[in-house]
Amino acid sequence: MEIKKAKKLSGSLAIPGDKSISHRAVMFGSLAEGTTKITNFLEGADCLSTISCFRKMGINIENTEGEILVHGKGLHGLCAPSETLDVGNSGTTTRLISGILAGQDFVSELTGDASIQKRPMKRIMTPLSQMGADIISLNGNGCAPLKISGKKLHAIHYNSPVASAQVKSCVLLAGMYADGITRVTEPVLSRNHTEIMLNYFGANVTAEGTTASIKPDPSLYGREILVPGDISSAAYFIAAGLLVPNSEILLKNVGINPTRDGILRVCRDMGADITLLNETTEGEPTADLLIRSSALHGTTIEGAIIPTLIDELPMIAVMAAFAEGTTVIRDAQELRVKESDRIQVMTENLRKMGADIQETEDGMIIHGGKALHGAEIDPHLDHRVAMSFAVAGLLCEGTLSIKNGECVNISYPEFYSDLYSLAE
Ligand code: S3P
Repeated sequence: MEIKKAKKLSGSLAIPGDKSISHRAVMFGSLAEGTTKITNFLEGADCLSTISCFRKMGINIENTEGEILVHGKGLHGLCAPSETLDVGNSGTTTRLISGILAGQDFVSELTGDASIQKRPMKRIMTPLSQMGADIISLNGNGCAPLKISGKKLHAIHYNSPVASAQVKSCVLLAGMYADGITRVTEPVLSRNHTEIMLNYFGANVTAEGTTASIKPDPSLYGREILVPGDISSAAYFIAAGLLVPNSEILLKNVGINPTRDGILRVCRDMGADITLLNETTEGEPTADLLIRSSALHGTTIEGAIIPTLIDELPMIAVMAAFAEGTTVIRDAQELRVKESDRIQVMTENLRKMGADIQETEDGMIIHGGKALHGAEIDPHLDHRVAMSFAVAGLLCEGTLSIKNGECVNISYPEFYSDLYSLAE
């Protein structure tokens, strides 16, 4: 994929559905009684992997353009899959489904692509084992493929060493099959879509500070779900609109849940002109975002804000390279175990463009404002790295080419056409 410098960005864009919320809607709809209708579902490869896994466990899921119907069979209605569940590239599918599988009365195996087979699964194997589940890494390396023999589970209070919504959600979902109230405390609050949506389906989840608790054996009922636009997908356009001179764009229907909105806070810290319009507050909050070109300056990003923008840090690293002054990113060691080692891959590729960037163990230090030039970018098949560099390509001199650019299909199949619909 080749990207050329843009003169300006203008117009408006409806941001595709949120990936985290789309996964959960299919999962919880499968465990509910009756039909769940999902509108604005994200048809990215990751969410399609979740659909395929639940179909293999006997759930009828209809997919007509833009709308998904999940015919749920209740909490105890899944069937043993006759083949290995393929999670593709999706960490969310792997970790959340493992919590559900741990409570079933059958044995299952799941695996995915080369990246997923390197991602750490001990973080879910540990709490699930404490609950009495039998979960093993078939290669003995703490990664997928995983074999899960479902059991009657015990309730625990799990103190998670990582702020991870995937770990928290895994334990809460297993908690539906436990013998008492299951609690998870995390060091810093991570995204809370599981808590919000499980309650909407009829479960009893309470949250206090960084502890979430769930009562076992809930009756879940099919619901209608309108998936808000994904702020993680909006992030590329927020950055492009701010950085490309003379731009003004409107991003419609973006989810602004406070556990996800760190990108807005950081952009404003950097001097961004962003206006929220048409805000809604019921369920998952949303707004239209009006973005105007702004002169950005460096900032420090650390501590409790990190989980609220964890997937946006590749884009923030690119923004920092084009901003004046120094940006320091700390406490983001989780970036090393995402779809790629995002600290290493961002540093390597930004350097190829001429950026002054230093890799640290838990982040990056970026001295911005240098003139950057086109380069051959290798995103290591990581969708978010590819999209971040596509934005860099709108700004630098010369052509920027992205190896395996189609990897954006994981979370945003229409990314390049949406980008070119705004760029001149
Ligand atoms: C996700 C949680 C985050 C995020 C991922 C989606 C989710 O991972 O990086 O893209 O849907 O729960 P962690 O919670 O493991 O940080």
